[in-house]
Amino acid sequence: MTAVIMDGRGVASAIESTLKTRVQGLEASGVKPTLATILVGNDPASRVYVASKHKAAERVGIASKGHRLEERATEAELVSLINSLNADHDVNGILLQLPLPPHFDERKVLEQIDPEKDVDGLTPTNAGRLVYGQTDLIPCTPRGVMELLHHYQIPIGSSRAVIINRSSLVGKPLHHLLLNEDATVTVCHSKSIELESMTRRADILVTAVGRRPQFVVTEDMVKEGGTVIDVAMNRVDGKLMGDVDFEAVSRKASHITPVPGGVGPMTVIMLIQNTLIATERQNHLLVSPAR
Ligand SMILES: NC(=O)c1ccc[n+]([C@@H]2O[C@H](COP(=O)([O-])OP(=O)(O)OC[C@H]3O[C@@H](n4cnc5c(N)ncnc54)[C@H](OP(=O)(O)O)[C@@H]3O)[C@@H](O)[C@H]2O)c1
Repeated sequence: MTAVIMDGRGVASAIESTLKTRVQGLEASGVKPTLATILVGNDPASRVYVASKHKAAERVGIASKGHRLEERATEAELVSLINSLNADHDVNGILLQLPLPPHFDERKVLEQIDPEKDVDGLTPTNAGRLVYGQTDLIPCTPRGVMELLHHYQIPIGSSRAVIINRSSLVGKPLHHLLLNEDATVTVCHSKSIELESMTRRADILVTAVGRRPQFVVTEDMVKEGGTVIDVAMNRVDGKLMGDVDFEAVSRKASHITPVPGGVGPMTVIMLIQNTLIATERQNHLLVSPAR
């Protein structure tokens, strides 16, 4: 078998076109969606990610403003910036780029973001709503994974899904999203035993470990004809790679995401989509159920 390559870049580009139309509709109602990003410190990868989010905003036609704080900034300074963005009626979405430098209490800071402007879906309010299947503002990476599964018409209901990751950013929200669509979901992590015995039974396998070369999803870990979604981003000898041994696994899976060009572009476009959802909601313009 040779797997269908799930083209995140292409799917994201198609979604981008529909979002442009939505922005034009908002502008016709006198509303200009605006995203504010916050970057603390100088982490080179974070700078690249924030820049790509601003570029995507620009392509779709939404305004975006970047805020930078020094590495040595205090929690009080960051909270004060978040409060001013919460109060600014011209700002519809706030993205706090993670990870923060180690002296910050990430959870405590995230709690300060107004849940209605929380376009990363990481505040306790939106995480709680997700558990009840009630939020529109869903974390971007898991939402992007679900969009890819939908686009390629991968059966989710009654499937056996295995996620290798239990972070609040990826594994936990994805667990709820898959469960809400009737998958039977197993969440694995570094303390899981007999990982292979679980992954081998997965109709849908999502991996987001990011510890290559120590951790690699090999051919013998996947189910024949399964779908393999690789969220991870590892830098190996300057090259961007996922967790999956792509060549070998492609011969066994039915569908597979590449790295780069799979989940990454979906994550960025989901942020823009969330910003539009937040804008529409704040302006009482959300007419159809958000997707
Ligand atoms: N493509 C995108 O848009 C996108 C977005 C977000 C993240 N990512 C990538 O996804 C990866 C994970 O990100 P994250 O923020 O969720 O990182 P994280 O918090 O470090 O999560 C890594 C997860 O992998 C688990 N793990 C580590 N070693 C393992 C092992 N040997 N066997 C099984 N599980 C193991 C960890 O288990 P414990 O919980 O027990 O430590 C943890 O749950 C990174 O490569 C990141 O760059 C990509």
